[in-house]
Amino acid sequence: MPENVNRQIILKSRPAGMPKESDFDLIETPIPTPEFGQVLIKSLWMSLDPYMRGRITSSPVGDVIESEAVGRVMESRLEGFKAGDIVRGRIGWQEYGLLDVTSAFPVNRDYGPISTSVGVLGMPGLTAYFGLLDVCEPKPGDTVVVSAASGAVGAVVGQIAKIGGCRVVGIAGSDEKVSYIVDELGFDAGINYKTQDVDRALSVAAPDGVDCYFDNVGGPITEAVLAHLAMYSRTVICGRISEYNEAEPSMGPRILRYLHSTRSRIQGFTVNQYPQQFEEGRAQLARWVKSGQIKYREDIVEGFENSPKAFIGQLGGANFGKLLIKVSDE
Ligand SMILES: NC(=O)c1ccc[n+]([C@@H]2O[C@H](COP(=O)([O-])OP(=O)(O)OC[C@H]3O[C@@H](n4cnc5c(N)ncnc54)[C@H](OP(=O)(O)O)[C@@H]3O)[C@@H](O)[C@H]2O)c1
Repeated sequence: MPENVNRQIILKSRPAGMPKESDFDLIETPIPTPEFGQVLIKSLWMSLDPYMRGRITSSPVGDVIESEAVGRVMESRLEGFKAGDIVRGRIGWQEYGLLDVTSAFPVNRDYGPISTSVGVLGMPGLTAYFGLLDVCEPKPGDTVVVSAASGAVGAVVGQIAKIGGCRVVGIAGSDEKVSYIVDELGFDAGINYKTQDVDRALSVAAPDGVDCYFDNVGGPITEAVLAHLAMYSRTVICGRISEYNEAEPSMGPRILRYLHSTRSRIQGFTVNQYPQQFEEGRAQLARWVKSGQIKYREDIVEGFENSPKAFIGQLGGANFGKLLIKVSDE
């Protein structure tokens, strides 16, 4: 190690509404030394994810921002791990971190590039896999609608639904994102919610109604989709990114009449419900990625110090693909 400096980004002040760069601080501390049972990791790729907005609300001011990363073992005092191994874990926004037997997960490099372990083959990919297959239960011929469709989760949802023989409609925030999901990922239709009326566009794109709705955004987009539910439809509430910066919920339960009249099912879901099946899901996703049936896109920001700016951009929809911070060269 060239110098004994660990750069960390900590929460400086708790944001009200959309976070600002001034809510974060970059500090320098000594690189920690692993104790018995620990490994020292140098972060290579840091994953930025929308759920971190919620963690910022609940974690103490002064703490390192929580996140997952994949990195290289520099020093090991943990049986089964040696210097040079690639592992994944909740290192947070810092260049070096300590993990132990409960928090260090070896990365299977046969599956693909190591960055995919926090993207299409990691938490976002698994979220798509279990949320769609286990909660939405799509059948061939079903119409599946997914919001935030070009994102890390949504893009995989749509492609798995296509593999399963569904008609897939994606909702995204730019024409470029809409052409990506239709022309490159093979979705049947795309709706730009910033330039089109979602309600009217769905009448055309999903004329027989929506059998499965995979909701990543909440808010007015979801309100519009629910008015198009087919009989006995299934909706998974995966995320509510349009609401993460709101101090108060913006609307009441105006959705109930649609659920009632269509006898539909709506279910909240988190990927952490499926720890026993993660390896099965990861292996299947890796097979689909290798065969080309699932494509993925990464939005790579160079430089650890750019994390706050990139995260704020993510909450406004600026990223196009799985958002990663390249912390250092592999
Ligand atoms: N339940 C779980 O276990 C679980 C796990 C992982 C993720 N999630 C949730 O899944 C959702 C997607 O996550 P991801 O990893 O795919 O994130 P991502 O790759 O960063 O994509 C998020 C996308 O959401 C869209 N968006 C942002 N603000 C919006 C708004 N106000 N209205 C509508 N769309 C907006 C943006 O694209 P546009 O340009 O299209 O607006 C943005 O790129 C998030 O809500 C996240 O919290 C849940």
